Amino acid sequence: MAPVKVTVTGAAGQIGYALLFRIASGQLLGADVPVRLSLLEIPPALKAAEGTAMELDDCAFPLLKGIEITDDAGKAFDGANVALLVGARPRTAGMERGDLLEANGGIFGPQGAAINAHAADDIRVLVVGNPANTNALIAQAAAPDVPAERFTAMTRLDHNRALSQLAAKLEVSVTDISKMTIWGNHSATQYPDLFHTEVGGKIAAELVDEAWLRDTFIPTVAKRGAAIIAARGASSAASAANAAIDHVHDWVNGTPEGDWTSAAIPSDGSYGVPEGLISSFPVVSREGRWEIVQGLSIDSFSRERIDASVQELVEERDAVRALNLI
Ligand code: NAI
Repeated sequence: MAPVKVTVTGAAGQIGYALLFRIASGQLLGADVPVRLSLLEIPPALKAAEGTAMELDDCAFPLLKGIEITDDAGKAFDGANVALLVGARPRTAGMERGDLLEANGGIFGPQGAAINAHAADDIRVLVVGNPANTNALIAQAAAPDVPAERFTAMTRLDHNRALSQLAAKLEVSVTDISKMTIWGNHSATQYPDLFHTEVGGKIAAELVDEAWLRDTFIPTVAKRGAAIIAARGASSAASAANAAIDHVHDWVNGTPEGDWTSAAIPSDGSYGVPEGLISSFPVVSREGRWEIVQGLSIDSFSRERIDASVQELVEERDAVRALNLI
C-alpha cells in the first residue's frame, strides 16, 4: 500500500508535538496504513521541527515511511491526502478581531491556494488553528477546485469535553454515552446539546437538573479552554491533538453504527444554519464523507443557543468578506 501523505502545519508547536507521534504510530488512519509526514513551519521554527523529526526517527515506527520539513506550502501540500492546519496567529494583547482575522487570512489563504494547486484529489482538511471555523472558510475560499466539503474545522475537543463532564456528573463511563452534539462555533458561544444525548437508553437532559445543565455544564464545556490555560499556563495541547486524531480517524474510517459525533462542516442549510457556513453539527461519516444527522427536534432552549453561536459565525464570515479574504 502506498503511504498516505499527512501534512501538519505548525508542526513545531505544542499541538504538533502531541500529534505527530500518534499519526506516525498509526492512530490517525489505522494500524495497517503507512504514512509519510510533511511538516510545514515558518523559518524560525524549522530547527525545532527538525528536532521533532529526529525524535520521530528514534521511535522506529514501522508505519512511518518518510518525513519532510519545509517552510514552502507548495512543497508541503504536494500530493497531500490529509492536511492538519494547526499553525495559526494567536490573539495577542490589544489585538482587535479584524487584525486577528486579517493575520490568519495571510496564513490560511495561501495555504488553501497551495492545497488547491498541489494536494491529491482525495485531500481532506481539518483546521485546528483558531478561529478554526473561519480559518477553514478562508482556506476553502482559496481552493475553488477542491470540493467544499473537504474543508472542516475541529469541535471534537469540545465534544470530548462534553462527554467527559457528563460522564463524571452521572458517574457513568464515557462509553455509556452516545449522540452528544456540539453546535455552532468553536468558541465560548458553542452549544453542547444534551437533549438528544443518550445514556443507557435515557435522554441525558432528563437525568440532570436544568440548573446544572444551564449554569454548570454548558459554561464548563464552552470555557474549558480558558480553564486549561489558567491551570497549565498554556493552551490545551495533548487533548487537542487527541481530538484531531479522533476527527480524521472517524472521517476516514466511519462513525460507529447507532452513534454520531460533532464536527464543523460546511452547512447545507440544515437546522437553519446559513448554507456555506462552517458550523458544528451532529454528524456521521459514511464512505469517507460527513453527513449531518437530520430530523432532530430543536426546542426553544436549544434554538436560542444555536442561533447565538451561528450569529457569531455569520459575523466572522462577514468580517472576512469585508477584508476580501473570502
Ligand atoms: P503553538 O504556538 O505552540 O504552535 C503554533 C505553531 O504554528 C508554531 O510552531 C508556529 O511557528 C507555527 N506557525 C505559525 N504560523 C505558521 C504558518 N504560517 N505556517 C506554518 N506554521 C506556522 O500553538 P499550539 O498550542 O500548538 O496551538 C495551535 C493552534 O491551535 C492555536 O491557534 C490554538 O488556538 C489552536 N487550538 C485549537 C483548538 C480547537 O479545539 N480547535 C484547541 C486548542 C488549540
